[in-house]
Amino acid sequence: MKRLTVPKILEKHSRGEKIAMLTAYDSTFARLVDEAGVDMILVGDSLGMVVQGHDTTIPVELEDVIYHTSCVARGSRSALVVADLPFMSYQCSRSQALLASGLALKEGMAGAVKLEGGLEMAETTSLIVAAGIPVMAHIGLKPQSYHTMGGYRIQGKSRDEANRLLSEARAFEEAGAFALVLEGVAMETAADITRAVSIPTIGISSGPHCSGQVLVVYDMLGMNPGFKPSFLKTYADGHKLITSAVEKYVDEVRRGIFPSEAHGFHRK
Ligand code: KIV
Repeated sequence: MKRLTVPKILEKHSRGEKIAMLTAYDSTFARLVDEAGVDMILVGDSLGMVVQGHDTTIPVELEDVIYHTSCVARGSRSALVVADLPFMSYQCSRSQALLASGLALKEGMAGAVKLEGGLEMAETTSLIVAAGIPVMAHIGLKPQSYHTMGGYRIQGKSRDEANRLLSEARAFEEAGAFALVLEGVAMETAADITRAVSIPTIGISSGPHCSGQVLVVYDMLGMNPGFKPSFLKTYADGHKLITSAVEKYVDEVRRGIFPSEAHGFHRK
């Protein structure tokens, strides 16, 4: 199957098909989620937390995203790969944003970039799109604004906040963004935004009324049993699956069961 491009994602949306997106950060997971049929793979700056072990996404560097995006691009064949522009790789100036986006395509081999923002990012988005780089905008709960938001708070609960998010969504659509991530948005507001724009909305912790969904792959695979927010559904007990396999391996090595002669090679 040929790799999905933005026009194909938009065709799916116009046919009323829901869009399934997951994160991945390496080639092995990219192959797995790709073979399982996701439409888009996000190389999220969540890699700062789930790969690098930081508490927030803020320390992630553009080089990190580009490196992981290239791993994901090499491991996948069908899904559209979206590179997440990390904190301070696009906010300083429009030319910085354009260069960062260009590198994500040229070196990361992404098919699109994602950026967090509000009205202030609309012109930057137009400029990136005009250069031939598809942009997915991310509104609502913006993890890169952790310090100004005072933590990870659900957005769009009040009428005023909902109206602000609606204007941001319309501004990004007008600027040429091909999709909108709605993170941590009250579900009625997410539904209003989804009705108000023609581009697909990809929700996370925003309820069932978006045009598609994204989750962090390790979260939906249940790799971290300590992380159980109410928006998350786990589809496997990845923690148990992996730790029990590793425990068995450790036990067999210690008891001399593995490797056996069947796992070795004979002399000529
Ligand atoms: O970085 C990320 O993984 C994200 C998604 C959670 C939307 O931005």
